[in-house]
Amino acid sequence: MFKILSKEQLNSETCLVEFHAPDIAAAAGPGQFLVLRVDEKGERFPLTIHDMDPERGTVSVVCQAVGVSTRKLCSLGEGGHVADIAGPLGHRVSGAGYGKVIVVGGGVGVAEAYPVARLFAGNGSEVEVIAGFRTKELVLCEKELKEFCREVHVTTDDGSYGRKGFVTDVLGGLLTKKKYDLAFVVGPVAMMKAVSGMTLSENLETRVSLNALMVDGTGMCGCCRILYGGEKRFACYDGPDFDASKVDFEDLGRRVSSYVEKERQALEHKCRIGLVPPSAGRGK
Ligand code: NAD
Ligand code: FES
Repeated sequence: MFKILSKEQLNSETCLVEFHAPDIAAAAGPGQFLVLRVDEKGERFPLTIHDMDPERGTVSVVCQAVGVSTRKLCSLGEGGHVADIAGPLGHRVSGAGYGKVIVVGGGVGVAEAYPVARLFAGNGSEVEVIAGFRTKELVLCEKELKEFCREVHVTTDDGSYGRKGFVTDVLGGLLTKKKYDLAFVVGPVAMMKAVSGMTLSENLETRVSLNALMVDGTGMCGCCRILYGGEKRFACYDGPDFDASKVDFEDLGRRVSSYVEKERQALEHKCRIGLVPPSAGRGK
């Protein structure tokens, strides 16, 4: 069992949860992830580590309540427990040796990009961030990123905050004016594909952190298989970040959306029988 030391509802669909997990905190690095099970009968699901504090023995995740398990996690409060956490899993991002880095995050992916951006800044890179959200209410991590980034550009699809449009609308302008040494991209598959298309056409080295479906998170089950340079790779074991120029985004998009309808039905059913809160809501 892992205890929740603090829980903050960041917006109507996303919460920040801090766990007491000293062994994981001591070993965790930027870009790595955890596989959690909320209760003994629950499914295993991956969440990227948002932050870690080895001295306090804590790791935190930002969780978007989109399905049964993520909604269950967001409904727990301070002092609650989850059954299991496995991690840290995957490779750390190696962030040394880059002069100028552009980090592009989409939605909850911005919270996952945060420790990676901080790593680059800590290693002496000049870091600029583009953070895109559907609407003002969903904006995450802006203040935290501004503490160490040279510039943070926020976009909203509906124009309710920052620049109106997608992250790609800002990126297009920046790429015509500035030179970067690396792009690091985290977010929805369509966004990672669009961003990589733009950066790679400028010959800019681009890494993408892939949100493949996962079960064990250790390279055993094959669930997170991706096509990479025409070959099979496991996002959990070989990644989660990869050279964007080799990633088959069409295949990734098909695989991550294969269970959307089943997940929707499971969520509806569990809400109906009272096992999951009826809305992503404010939780405890
Ligand atoms: P979202 O659908 O709200 O999109 C966020 C932003 O991405 C948009 O505001 C827009 O700026 C940009 N975007 C979306 N589609 C685009 C397109 N076609 N072209 C250009 N830009 C586009 O995102 P969300 O609902 O917060 O979901 C976040 C996604 O990030 C999820 O798909 C999740 O799986 C993924 N994610 C990945 C990781 C990882 O480690 N790789 C971690 C967490 C989340
Ligand atoms: Fe099972 Fe990657 S999640 S192989």
